[in-house]
Amino acid sequence: MKLTHFIAATGVAVASLSATFAQANEFRLGLITPPSHIWTKGAESFGAALSEATGGAHTVTVFPARQLGNEAQMLQQLQTGALDMAFMTVAEVSNRAPDFGAFYAPYLANDIAHAARILDTDLAKSMLDQLPAKTGVVGIGYGMAGLRQILARGDIKSAADLAGLKLRITPFDPILDFYNAIGAAPTPMPLPAVYDALANGQVDAIDMDAELIYLLKYYEHSDTILQSNHMMFPMVGLVSARVWKDLSEEDRTAIDTHMKAALADVVAQYVEKDVEWLEQVKATGENYVEVGPEFFGDALGKWDAIWSEKSSQLGALRAAAAAVK
Ligand code: BEZ
Repeated sequence: MKLTHFIAATGVAVASLSATFAQANEFRLGLITPPSHIWTKGAESFGAALSEATGGAHTVTVFPARQLGNEAQMLQQLQTGALDMAFMTVAEVSNRAPDFGAFYAPYLANDIAHAARILDTDLAKSMLDQLPAKTGVVGIGYGMAGLRQILARGDIKSAADLAGLKLRITPFDPILDFYNAIGAAPTPMPLPAVYDALANGQVDAIDMDAELIYLLKYYEHSDTILQSNHMMFPMVGLVSARVWKDLSEEDRTAIDTHMKAALADVVAQYVEKDVEWLEQVKATGENYVEVGPEFFGDALGKWDAIWSEKSSQLGALRAAAAAVK
């Protein structure tokens, strides 16, 4: 409900507040991650900061764990204005703006700190400019999760051992293309279904990050933990373009400032903790194998061949990544 309606109805007038934030709002922000996840906590701190900065004029209610639907559904809601904001994987955005698929280029980032620097390049930031026209959303800035790793039931000594395995992936094209190139049988599956699927053998392996491998104890149901660091996993903070167009300059600035700060904090937490989580997983004594790009052989070249066609930014992003090595 617009707070201006509430003020009109109750006669409550907050002169200084309404002078600056003419249109007060109760924003809704959706995401797919569970309540305890760093993205969800980041969304909550953004809401708290926005509310404080606007004297309570703007509030943000966070809907985690796909309460409002999956990311494709939330993106549709953002387009119609039924949803105000979201923290969403860049992969979902890349379904409509394929240039963004370039962020999933295997080994684009050397390590987690490099991933953060890539997202901070002028090129990465300028790519957000195409979102209103292509997807009906305004991209405020990037967050991310940890680098991707592979957990498997059974022994994995080479990429050939992954061939034919039912391997859980986040349901997105760039990741699908990577595992198809390896010869695995990529099995798209949303986060909440992964634990049981791995535990009961519905899948043979999963593509996952260190945070969830460690905190959700996925490692307990695998025989090989492959620390491959093969892909970065960016996220983007979005506002519905329909909602954005009706906001005052002051409102836009407040949202932009506080959402950017929350996203930067999310990125900083992964830079600090991603390696730590991996150390903890390693310390469990499970079969832990560290591999690099050579492990995946010609799969990397195959992925590049597909995505240099799909994303006009792949070459430029590789150059930008090399420049901030
Ligand atoms: C996943 O699907 O693996 C995932 C999604 C969002 C954040 C982290 C992981």
